[in-house]
Amino acid sequence: PFDWYQKMRDERPVSYDEERRAWDVFKYDAVRTVLSDYETFSSDTPPDDDSGADDSSPLSASMISVDPPEHERLRQFVDDRFQPDAIRDRRPYIETVAESLLDDIEGETFDIVSAYSFPLPVIVIAELLDIPAERRDEFKQWSDALVAAPREQTEETLRKNEQHRTQSIAEMSSFFRNALTERRGSDRDDLVTLAANAEALSPTEQLGFCILLLIAGNITTTNLITNAIWSFAEQDILHAVASGAVDRKQAIEEALRFRSPVQAMSRVATEDTEIDGVEIAADERVTAWIGSANRDESVFDNPDEFLPERSPNRHIAFGTGVHYCLGAPLARLEAGVALSTLFDRYDTIELRDDQFQPVSSPIVYGLESLPLHVE
Ligand code: HEM
Repeated sequence: PFDWYQKMRDERPVSYDEERRAWDVFKYDAVRTVLSDYETFSSDTPPDDDSGADDSSPLSASMISVDPPEHERLRQFVDDRFQPDAIRDRRPYIETVAESLLDDIEGETFDIVSAYSFPLPVIVIAELLDIPAERRDEFKQWSDALVAAPREQTEETLRKNEQHRTQSIAEMSSFFRNALTERRGSDRDDLVTLAANAEALSPTEQLGFCILLLIAGNITTTNLITNAIWSFAEQDILHAVASGAVDRKQAIEEALRFRSPVQAMSRVATEDTEIDGVEIAADERVTAWIGSANRDESVFDNPDEFLPERSPNRHIAFGTGVHYCLGAPLARLEAGVALSTLFDRYDTIELRDDQFQPVSSPIVYGLESLPLHVE
């Protein structure tokens, strides 16, 4: 998509897409404004016009879809649990999970996505929610269904996609409704129990929270890990990062900028407004292209180059403003542990082939599989 972003930043940085009936915003400052000015650009977006979806999804009652002041109520009760200090305690557990996933790998050539980048975040969030990690394939199907967009958009594929989405939401809802009911009043310290006992939240909001947590951090973190390995291998800096010659944390930040797992987020205009001189009417949808902002030449020198020690690196891969990613410290920790555990284990890590299968979604950027050869 990066050539397209470049062209749009040059030619039509705020433009209307007739087909999607939405505005697209491509430049860094404008993207930041759309993401953070919640009075003008609301996160309470209506469902896609053609999707046939209604607004009854519990996700529309979760923090990611709600504006201040309500937003604070839906986020504040859990904020502490995701602060860097609290998250740091999870490191030994995450290391154990990473080690055991590598133990399970057989042979020297394998797909790192299915063996490692995918299971790691699911197991970690399953532990935080205290739900059975063995059901992770099901969790993945649920999450995939929510972000998938069919490659060929015909009436038939769109309808199937929507059906699949509705069914996944129904399955997730019934799964978490049971767990919430079971844990109400209990003194367990997992996140489902935290939600079940959060009196400030309605039952639908508690459910929306559980579903959001299960899906927000999985595909995204999977792709961060995959995209980092992919980028480091491509740049031939795997050894340099492994030995510490290149700072691992900075290199992960550059992977977040260069191949942002979340390419776009949407808002809806609450009133007639304008962005960079272009008029936008109340109720129109606005898509903020994070992936384009992170390649904006007015903010980043040589934006299309992967510079592992880029500094400063003001990328907005985790968003900005009140909706800034709750899981950012966890995602950074997981990626750091995943990479150092992998590098400690093998002397040689090489990309096996360059026939990558990208994730089929305009919003999520990553790979379905990444074959590696290790020694
Ligand atoms: C919000 C990206 C990992 C939970 C966001 C937003 C972005 C984002 C861009 C802002 C949405 C908006 O402005 O509308 C990412 C990326 C990740 C990641 C790139 C991994 C590399 C995680 C993890 C979790 C998580 C691991 C939880 C375990 C959330 C939640 C929100 C959020 C709950 C909503 C926050 C709010 O509305 O206040 N994320 N995320 N994310 N993320 Fe993440």
